[in-house]
Amino acid sequence: MAAEKKRHFHTRVIHAALTPGDWQGATLPPIFQTAAHCHETAENLSDTFAGRTSDHIYARLTNPTNRVLEQKLADLEGGRAAVFMSSGMAAITNSCLALLRSGDEFVCGNSLFMSTYVLFANVFKKYGITARFVESTDLAAMEAAINEKTRFVYLETIGNPKMDVPDLAAAAQLAHRHGLPLLVDNTLATPYLCRPLELGADIVIHSTTKYLSGHGDAAGGVVIDGARFNWSSERFADFAPFVERKGELAYLDRVWRELHINFGTTAAPLHAYLTMLGLDTLALRMERHLANAGKVAAFLASRPEVRWVRYPGFADHPQHEVAQRQFGGLGFGGMFTFGLADQAACFRFIKNLKLIYHLANIGDCKSLVIHPYSSQYLAFPVELKEKLSITPDLVRLSVGIEAVEDIMDDLAQALEKS
Ligand SMILES: Cc1ncc(COP(=O)(O)O)c(C=O)c1O
Repeated sequence: MAAEKKRHFHTRVIHAALTPGDWQGATLPPIFQTAAHCHETAENLSDTFAGRTSDHIYARLTNPTNRVLEQKLADLEGGRAAVFMSSGMAAITNSCLALLRSGDEFVCGNSLFMSTYVLFANVFKKYGITARFVESTDLAAMEAAINEKTRFVYLETIGNPKMDVPDLAAAAQLAHRHGLPLLVDNTLATPYLCRPLELGADIVIHSTTKYLSGHGDAAGGVVIDGARFNWSSERFADFAPFVERKGELAYLDRVWRELHINFGTTAAPLHAYLTMLGLDTLALRMERHLANAGKVAAFLASRPEVRWVRYPGFADHPQHEVAQRQFGGLGFGGMFTFGLADQAACFRFIKNLKLIYHLANIGDCKSLVIHPYSSQYLAFPVELKEKLSITPDLVRLSVGIEAVEDIMDDLAQALEKS
C-alpha cells in the first residue's frame, strides 16, 4: 500500500495529534486538572512505573493534555518525541544538563538570549562546566573550540537580539564530524520558518511562551528529539542505560527521567491547552508577522531618526544569503533591532508609543518594544554588552500582526518625538 501522504504544515499545525474520539468529541483535549491518576490494579501501576504502559501516574511526571501538545510539537518540527516544560529556560537547562557532567565543556554561539547567556556563562560554571563561547556564525572558531571534553554544540536559529543567522546545516555537519550533537533554540524562527532537524540538528528547543502560543498568555518550553544521533559512541558511554531502555530516544528519556521529573520543571496543563489553542493559528500569524516585519524594517530604514536597522531580510545583512536559503524564502523573522541617536532618544521614543506595548517579551500578536541595554542586560558589564552588540542606542521590536499601517503610524509619531 502507498505510504500515507504527509499533510502540509498549515494543516498539521491544526490537526496533528488530535483524537477527538478520545475526548467525547471535543476538538481539543480537556485540561486534565489533576495531581495524580487512579490505577485499577497494582499490576497496572507497577507496569506503568516500569514504562510498559503509557498511562499517567502523577502530574510532575506526565499529563494527558501536555502529552497531546508534545506530540503536536514533535510533528511540527519533524522530531520523534518531545517533553513540554514550565518555561523555555527549563527546556534549555534540562536539554543541556542531560549531556553535562562536572568537568565537561560545550561550544555555543555568543549571540544568545540573555538568561541563556547567564546560565551558560555563570550558573553552569559553578558546577565545573565550561561554555566555550564563539561567534555564532564563525564555523572555524566553533571547530577550534571543540576538544575531547566537548559534549555538544548549541546555537539559536536567529540570535536574540543580535539578529545573526548561523548556517545550521554546516554547523550540524561540523558537530557530527566530531561525534557531537547540535542543539538549536528555534524560538525566534518557529517550525513555520525553519526546521533545524531537517537541516541536520539533533535536538530542538523552544520557548513556547513566544510565537508558538502567540498571545503572551502562557509560559512554556519544549525539548524535541530528532532521535537520529548515535548515543552509543565511547564519548557518550554514560548514555548506555538510556540507550538500553529507549534506544533512539535515549536522550529524551534522560531529559525526562533524570532532570525534568526530578527538578520538577512541570508545565501546568492549562498552559499546554492555551499553547495548543494558539498553535492553531501559528501559520497564519507567522505569515503576517513576517510580512509586517519586512515592511516595518524598510519603513524604519527610511526614517532620518533611525541610524541603522539590523534585519536579516536586508541584502546587506551579513547572513542574508544563509537566511534566504535556510528560511526557504518565507521571510526573515518577526523581530529585529534598530538604532536611534542614543539611550535618551530610545527612552523618549518608547515613552511616546501609543499602540506598541513596552514589555519584556516577544512573539505576541501585539507589537512589543524594549530597550535591552537598560533592562534585560542591565546587570551585564558594559564591555560585555558592547561585545554582544547590546548598545545604548538599540531598540528591539517584535512586530505584531496588527494592520501594518497602524504600526508604522505609531512608530512615526514616536520617532518624531525622539
Ligand atoms: C530565544 C529565546 N530562548 C529562550 C527564552 C526563554 O524562554 P522563557 O522566557 O519561556 O523561559 C527566550 C525568552 O525570551 C528567548 O527569547
